[in-house]
Amino acid sequence: MPDVLLSENINGEAVKALSQRFHVTFLPDLWKDPPALLRCIPDFRALIVRNQTQVNRALLDAAVRLEVVGRAGVGLDNVDVKAATERGILITSTPDQNAISVAELAIGMMLSLARRIPAAHEDTRAGNWNRQRFCGTELHGKTFGIIGAGKIGYLTACRAKAFGMKILAYDPYLSCDNVYLSELAGELVSLEVLLERSDVVSCHMPSTPETAGLLNAGMFGRMKPSALFINTSRGEVVAEADLAEALRAGILAGAALDVRAKEPPTAGVLEDAPNILLTPHIAAFTDEAQNRVTRAICEDIARVLDGQPAQNSVNRVSKN
Ligand code: MLT
Repeated sequence: MPDVLLSENINGEAVKALSQRFHVTFLPDLWKDPPALLRCIPDFRALIVRNQTQVNRALLDAAVRLEVVGRAGVGLDNVDVKAATERGILITSTPDQNAISVAELAIGMMLSLARRIPAAHEDTRAGNWNRQRFCGTELHGKTFGIIGAGKIGYLTACRAKAFGMKILAYDPYLSCDNVYLSELAGELVSLEVLLERSDVVSCHMPSTPETAGLLNAGMFGRMKPSALFINTSRGEVVAEADLAEALRAGILAGAALDVRAKEPPTAGVLEDAPNILLTPHIAAFTDEAQNRVTRAICEDIARVLDGQPAQNSVNRVSKN
């Protein structure tokens, strides 16, 4: 009898180890075919996904044997946790396992924008030697604003601090005596103040009804014309057409996005915007982070299938 279904591309040593103990079915493209997923889900006790499988109420209702869903990553926007809880299905995730990699990409994006590295590279590859054209800006002494001061925001701010930047944070769930923020001599401010004072703004928020389209024309209008905007969190937090327009109008100097409102995106306004850097949701994609994420999720799934408590459950379910 099948045990574990992997509906996205999740592999490595930890998956092999899980396969030695349980019957594991690896269908990495199944997330693209929701009707096929719906047909096969009744057979499984566990489902492991990344961010593309839609674990919605209809799927959970059909999942008559399902005990646990493992989210190999941190965001839960593709999982209906409420519906799972109602059906007694446990959800586990891998908080913190990819945080360093995401922070490192955000910093890489900041350096790339500040020194215009991708544009200078393309120009030099084309046979040019335009030193004046690629005069950039220094980060030392500038202000780095994080929107969302959880683990990833904090690790990103630590790295910005190492460049000699001042730290501002906006997070409605944080108190101003937060110990991590104090360690960085960071200041907790309103979103409006953060946007007005920051030279670099980096988003680290989940996608929720409260954060949808939070960064819109009105908010971009508050930023300095020299400011850089980075989003490695969730695409839905940015009103993409407003960002493209802000770049075109010179309301801000540059933007880097690793995430999009729709993934994969349909080519649109952002691809043609000036001073934009786009990557395909790779912030968590490093060998180290993926090994940690895969190991953590496979170990938690094995625990649940063995009747043990999960280490990283995001909901509480009662067993009958
Ligand atoms: C996460 O939520 O962990 C990252 O964005 C990567 C992913 O979605 O798989």
